[in-house]
Amino acid sequence: MDEITPEKREIIDKINKLKKEKNAVILVHNYQRPEIYEVADHLGDSLGLTIKATETKADTIVFCGVDFMAESAKILNPEKKVLWPQQEAKCPMAQMANPEALKKRVAELKKKFPDLAVVSYVNTSAAVKALSDICCTSSNALKVVESLPNQNILFVPDQNLAKYVQRFTKKNIIPWEGFCYVHHTKFYPELLKQVKEKMSDAEIIVHPECPPEIIDMADHVTSTSGMIKVARESKAKRFLIGTEVGMIYRLQKEVPDKEFFTIPNGGTCIQMKKIFIEDVYDALVKDQYKVEVDEETAIKAKQALQKMIALR
Ligand code: 13P
Ligand code: SF4
Repeated sequence: MDEITPEKREIIDKINKLKKEKNAVILVHNYQRPEIYEVADHLGDSLGLTIKATETKADTIVFCGVDFMAESAKILNPEKKVLWPQQEAKCPMAQMANPEALKKRVAELKKKFPDLAVVSYVNTSAAVKALSDICCTSSNALKVVESLPNQNILFVPDQNLAKYVQRFTKKNIIPWEGFCYVHHTKFYPELLKQVKEKMSDAEIIVHPECPPEIIDMADHVTSTSGMIKVARESKAKRFLIGTEVGMIYRLQKEVPDKEFFTIPNGGTCIQMKKIFIEDVYDALVKDQYKVEVDEETAIKAKQALQKMIALR
């Protein structure tokens, strides 16, 4: 966990003053650094923050999260200024699907499944969203799939979320081959089994981006904000958490009377951690980096996002 030094505290205070002067709102994803939590107007998961982006009256949205999150905020608020403090904070999974490959795959699949619909996880570019029937997040994927009249669904880009949804629906979910390196490659069932044997009272909560073998061992499978709700409501006192390590700090802060441990090999999302408090300060002072999405793409991507939001 990062220490909040007196120097950082000074910057936090300046940001909290500046954002009022500039009528800016700061949206912060749960995986961000603790120092960034200190300037958040809203802290949450992808769905929660997307909804907050549609509700804000601020002139400027500063989005502390990865590329697709800031882009979604801009798509939903074309008239507002959306600032993304660090241009290197790009989600690798979102780059695993591109519009050309998607068009090709859809054309192939439609020969076999003429009713094919495309559901894209919000962890996608605006261009991929623009080619999708509807978007989803980790907290509403099943609801989104079930809302469609189509029987055959191409689910882009996370194969693990796709396989997780398939467990609960009679529809045919065709997974894209993407994955999140933090969830897909770091957790091993054998190691988790060993830890669980030593901590039998602990409940296992994992993100649906985890591979099926890890999901099979979990007591709860949910989004990052869903984890906070589960931890509050459960009778258990200790939890093994299968997601990005920053979530341990977030859970501990929200539910201080319980204990949280990462499941073995819990990893860091390097891209999420590229944003430092100094970047947020610079974003407000220098008006950087403005998120822009070309109009034609944005109009289509907005339809896919709004269809999802309308389902809540
Ligand atoms: P949540 O929507 O659950 O916060 O997940 C976003 C994400 O990128 C998980 O890796
Ligand atoms: Fe992308 Fe994975 Fe990082 Fe989430 S944790 S932002 S899916 S790389």
